[in-house]
Amino acid sequence: MATIKRDQHDIYPFISAKGRLAGAATGKSILITGGGKGVGKVSPFALAGATKITITGREQKALDATKSEVEAQSPGATVTTVAADVTTEDAVSSIFAALPSGPPPDVLINNAGINADFSIADSDPATWWRDFEVNLKGTYLVTRAYLRLLDGKPGTIINVSTSISDAVLPNMSSYATSKHAVNRFTESVQLEYGAQGVRCLAFHPGGIASTGMGQRAPLQFRGSLLDTPELAAGTALYLSTPESSYLNGRLIFADWNLEEVEKLKDSIVKDNLLVSRVNWGPSISTEIVGLPPR
Ligand SMILES: NC(=O)c1ccc[n+]([C@@H]2O[C@H](COP(=O)([O-])OP(=O)(O)OC[C@H]3O[C@@H](n4cnc5c(N)ncnc54)[C@H](OP(=O)(O)O)[C@@H]3O)[C@@H](O)[C@H]2O)c1
Repeated sequence: MATIKRDQHDIYPFISAKGRLAGAATGKSILITGGGKGVGKVSPFALAGATKITITGREQKALDATKSEVEAQSPGATVTTVAADVTTEDAVSSIFAALPSGPPPDVLINNAGINADFSIADSDPATWWRDFEVNLKGTYLVTRAYLRLLDGKPGTIINVSTSISDAVLPNMSSYATSKHAVNRFTESVQLEYGAQGVRCLAFHPGGIASTGMGQRAPLQFRGSLLDTPELAAGTALYLSTPESSYLNGRLIFADWNLEEVEKLKDSIVKDNLLVSRVNWGPSISTEIVGLPPR
C-alpha cells in the first residue's frame, strides 16, 4: 500500500506558475466563482499566461480590489467582474451573459463555498440548508450553464471540495455532506461529458488559516490550518493541465505532493481510486439495481 503524506504546505516548483508550469495557461480564459476573496483571489492562471479571467462573488468591492491586484501583477490579463449569488439561476445567467467575447472559458473553477458549524439538533434549518445551496446547488447551476455554453466542446471544471468531504465529524453534517455530494457530482459530470472532452475534478485546497473560512473555522480544526493559499492556487493550475487527466472525476488533496502522486498514476486509473464509494470491504458483495455485479 502506498502512503501519500499530507506534508506539502506551500507552493512547490512542480505546480508553480513561476516554476515548472510557467506559461501553462497561455492565452486561456478562466471563470472562478468566489474569485474576489480568500483562496479564489490568488490567480496563478494570470501568472501562467491566462488573458481573460472572470471572477464572481456577491461583494463587488472585493471583486474590484482583486481585479486591480491581478491586472497590476499580470498586465497581460484582463479581469471581468460579475457580482452574483451562485444559488440563483438568474444570477448565474448574469455571470454567463457577462463573459468576455470569444469561445467559452477553458477552465471553470467552482470555488464559492460556505460552512456552518453546529450539531444537528441545535442547527437552524435555513442555515443548515444554505451549505447545500451554495456548495452543491451553486456548483450544479454554474456547471450546468458552462456545459450548455460548451455545447459539445471540451472544457475543464475544477470543483473546490474539502478533505472533510471524506470524513464523518461532529458539527459538520451540512458542510461535509454538501461537499461529499460535490465529489459525487464531479464523478457524474465526468461520466456524462468525458467523451466530449470535458474534464471534471474535485480538490481539497488545504487547510488555510488566512481566508474567510479559515478565520471562521471551528476550534477543532484551527491547529491544522497549515497551508498557504498559493498551494491551493498552484494545485488548481496543475489540475487544469492535460497532464493531470488521470485524475479526472477524482478527489485530490492539495497538501499531497502531486509529483509523487503522478508516480501512482497506473494504479489510480486501474483500480479507480480517489472516488467516493460505500466501503463494502472484502467480505460483502452485492449488486446495485440495474447494474451488473461489482
Ligand atoms: N480555508 C480552508 O481551510 C478551506 C479548507 C477546505 C475547503 N475550503 C474551500 O475553499 C473554498 C474557498 O473558501 P475560502 O477559504 O477562500 O473562504 P472565503 O474567504 O470565505 O471565500 C469564500 C468565497 O465564496 C464566495 N461566496 C460565498 N457565498 C457565495 C454565494 N452565495 N454566491 C457567490 N459567491 C459566494 C465569497 O464571496 P462573497 O462573500 O463576496 O459572495 C468568497 O469569495 C470553499 O469552497 C471552501 O469550502 C477552504
